[in-house]
Amino acid sequence: MDLDEEIQQRLEGLKIPSHIAVIMDGNGRWAEEHGLTRLQGHAAGRRAAKRLVDAAIEVGVQVVSVYAFSTENWSRSENEIEGLMALIEEALRQELKELQEQQVRVVASGRLSQLPSSLQELLAKSERDTADNRDLTLNLCINYGGRAEIADAAAAIATDAVAGKIAPSEIDTELVATYLYHPELPDPDLLIRTSGELRISNFLLYQLAYSEMVVLPVYWPDFDASSLLEAIEEFNERKRRFGARPS
Ligand code: IPE
Ligand code: IPE
Ligand code: MG
Repeated sequence: MDLDEEIQQRLEGLKIPSHIAVIMDGNGRWAEEHGLTRLQGHAAGRRAAKRLVDAAIEVGVQVVSVYAFSTENWSRSENEIEGLMALIEEALRQELKELQEQQVRVVASGRLSQLPSSLQELLAKSERDTADNRDLTLNLCINYGGRAEIADAAAAIATDAVAGKIAPSEIDTELVATYLYHPELPDPDLLIRTSGELRISNFLLYQLAYSEMVVLPVYWPDFDASSLLEAIEEFNERKRRFGARPS
């Protein structure tokens, strides 16, 4: 896919964030507005996720983390949960070959052992098969919670401390970061949330400490390459300080 000329022009001179994290929100509201079921909204959201991946590759982003299912999303109806799990699995199964051709490395983050076993197996296979790809890294956050990730890291650190592998005095923010699900990924530079909600909803709590946040009004199924550009343009207006004195 080639980005259209207008987008190519808008890209000129822009600094591209290395890692973009995306809270793909608004599928249900989009469906309601179109007189469709929530699951039809999620199916439309899947197509938007593909547009995001294609556009991110074109633009030259290194890592995209997408929030596909949160640890709190289990409180939805059984029908919606089952539909979402089936949709995630079907999407990955159908897209894997193209992701491979696009040189995308797939990784998964979350409490994966609580997912349906067929999805767990597919995620493991996808990670294995795409491990050497060097274009975009696509981090699929499924049954992901920022608090759960930090709690899992704390448990692993405690286990290593009891085993004598690390001393409590060695535990600092950098060591904690090495116990996260994917310590090799840089922190997100930019967090995008669609559908206008101004909250983090338990996404990447440790890693988002100094990310710039852009909230777009569009519902996730309407997200396209132009929406990505809009967020990157806004990112370029920001002055990142990381706690230092303003220059
Ligand atoms: C985001 O859309 C997808 C998931 C959370 C899985 P929602 O389903 O949250 O859509 P709204 O927020 O109800 O519109
Ligand atoms: C966040 O959206 C989770 C995902 C996009 C997977 P939610 O729709 O679940 O978040 P809240 O409930 O509005 O905070
Ligand atoms: Mg929502």
